[in-house]
Amino acid sequence: HEGARNYLPRERSLSALREAARGCRGCDLYADATQTVFGEGPEHARIVMVGEVPGDREDREGAPFVGPAGGLLDRALAEAGIDRDTVYLTNAVKHFRFDTKGGRRVHKTPTRSQTVACKPWLMAELDAVRPELVVALGATAAQSLFGPDFRVSSRRGQVLELPEIDDPPLAVATVHPSAVLRARDADRERAYAAFVADLTTAARAL
Ligand code: URA
Ligand code: SF4
Repeated sequence: HEGARNYLPRERSLSALREAARGCRGCDLYADATQTVFGEGPEHARIVMVGEVPGDREDREGAPFVGPAGGLLDRALAEAGIDRDTVYLTNAVKHFRFDTKGGRRVHKTPTRSQTVACKPWLMAELDAVRPELVVALGATAAQSLFGPDFRVSSRRGQVLELPEIDDPPLAVATVHPSAVLRARDADRERAYAAFVADLTTAARAL
């Protein structure tokens, strides 16, 4: 596999990209997943949010953030004053990666090489949508966009600029909503509040 680059269509509208991504075999993940989960949202959204990889529900339904992490994201966006319907939501990697344990499909974090393989789709989405602000949800998205040395723990909530793009959009990195869901009871409220605070910072940067 040589990455997604060879699967990109000549026409770069979101609908042409979405159609072409259905047939991507740029890395090994297409083989076991149900379908490509492409980004969704307004064609010229002011905000693009980038998650990690589709989960079990997303894989079956073919849409990003429709499972538990999406539910938490919806609540946090509302508290930050961001209307989800105005956001283009996508993922750094577009096929579900999982292990099967006791008949259940359990999410696995994509490898760096899978993230690099899938990056052409993400860059093509950013080029088509041309948002004013990009929000990276978690380390996989942040490292896809900013490079492998980027640390969410030290840079979260800062208003940055996206590298590698002409006329770059603003960018804010924060944690992944699944990390808030996974936090221990004693830490969850604080983790959620910090997530909402980062999203609020992002919204105010516009
Ligand atoms: N987690 C992600 O990173 N993306 C989704 O679409 C769902 C869960
Ligand atoms: Fe292509 Fe990305 Fe799917 Fe890999 S994960 S096959 S690069 S769309």
